[in-house]
Amino acid sequence: MIVGIIGSGAMGSGIAQVIATAGHKVHLLDKNAQALERAAKSIKGSLRKLSAKGKLSENDAADIQDRLNFTEAHQDFGDCDLVLEAVVEDLEVKQNLFREVEMIVPEHCILASNTSSLSIASIASACQNPERFIGIHFFNPAPVMPLVEIIPAVQTREGLAEEIKDMVQSWGKLPVIAQDTPGFIVNRVARPFYGEAIRIYEEGIADIATIDWAMTELGGFKMGPFTLMDFIGHDVNYRVTESVFASFFYDPRYKPSFTQKRLFEAGYFGRKSGRGFYNYQEGAVPPAPTRDEQLGHYILNRILAMLINEAIDALALRVASKEDLELAMTKGVNYPKGLLAWADELGAQHVLATLDGLYKEYHEDRYRASPLLRKMVRENQTFFPGL
Ligand SMILES: NC(=O)c1ccc[n+]([C@@H]2O[C@H](COP(=O)([O-])OP(=O)(O)OC[C@H]3O[C@@H](n4cnc5c(N)ncnc54)[C@H](O)[C@@H]3O)[C@@H](O)[C@H]2O)c1
Repeated sequence: MIVGIIGSGAMGSGIAQVIATAGHKVHLLDKNAQALERAAKSIKGSLRKLSAKGKLSENDAADIQDRLNFTEAHQDFGDCDLVLEAVVEDLEVKQNLFREVEMIVPEHCILASNTSSLSIASIASACQNPERFIGIHFFNPAPVMPLVEIIPAVQTREGLAEEIKDMVQSWGKLPVIAQDTPGFIVNRVARPFYGEAIRIYEEGIADIATIDWAMTELGGFKMGPFTLMDFIGHDVNYRVTESVFASFFYDPRYKPSFTQKRLFEAGYFGRKSGRGFYNYQEGAVPPAPTRDEQLGHYILNRILAMLINEAIDALALRVASKEDLELAMTKGVNYPKGLLAWADELGAQHVLATLDGLYKEYHEDRYRASPLLRKMVRENQTFFPGL
């Protein structure tokens, strides 16, 4: 198989490495020669590290490099079986790109986008043959993160999602299938991890260090929400939040916060800019959490109830299957447990009581419980009976 990748930035270069490692020839295209140079250097460095760790022989690393063709010419795509774009997150740019690419690639060539926030249907609509178009969404860094979301659009031909699933699996990745709805699985279901944490902080219930402590020490999450937002960068995380909110026709459940917007506006992007919620400058002393178990459990319970509700609602609206929802949250964002299994463990009744308690207190739509959660309680059901 020959694969064309457009955009050699953070995502495109990582995806190229994954596919070349799986044994396929890859044309990695960028309009910017410097970006191509950076990509070549970064892939080389990454392969060298793997060799040094004994995970890859030097011969294999050399073969992978040989399968990579760095190019600025679309003409090279004449022999491609799959073209995947990872250029800037701009609908018009992506649409124009596929108009050009479709004139060059063979008829059987599959076209795909790595977009995080645009609808696959809207990009596919620019194509003459949109039935061959699909979303293939990797996570950053692509060579390390196992999850890949596959998103068929309304135009995508029947069966293509399953074909791509097998293909992605053969690249050593874990594919899940998601509906073409905002945020797909991970970027939708994870929203309350950030949003509810910020809300608790804004209300003065706890400070950022205490909320991070509760989620990591008591909840078992690898990173607390504020550390994670600083790590992702507020330029990225705030933009995703804003875009998911707008795409959901301004459903209050996804409302962004002024707290994060101000950090974004100030250029306090997080770790990469030296300042975000935390201060990363040399000599800065990180704030200490208040290790109050009762407060910690209140924080964990509230954020977790919101996350579980989001996962249950995604299931109710058939965004993905039960199994794929669990896989997505454990492999895409490293949650300690799948949220539906967590619901079973806590008891649907407990989760519903938490949400109804918040709704009663605030009278805000963001705390509305999913009808499926109510049904589970009414019928005394679990998501994974017998486990
Ligand atoms: N960064 C992430 O965490 C992440 C995760 C998943 C998906 N994505 C998505 O992947 C895509 C790329 O993101 P990124 O972070 O790698 O961006 P990036 O800015 O690192 O790289 C984009 C690259 O595309 C090139 N480019 C722009 N327009 C082009 C054109 N018309 N033709 C050829 N090359 C062009 C740029 O020169 C640049 O090198 C976006 O759609 C983004 O939403 C990003």
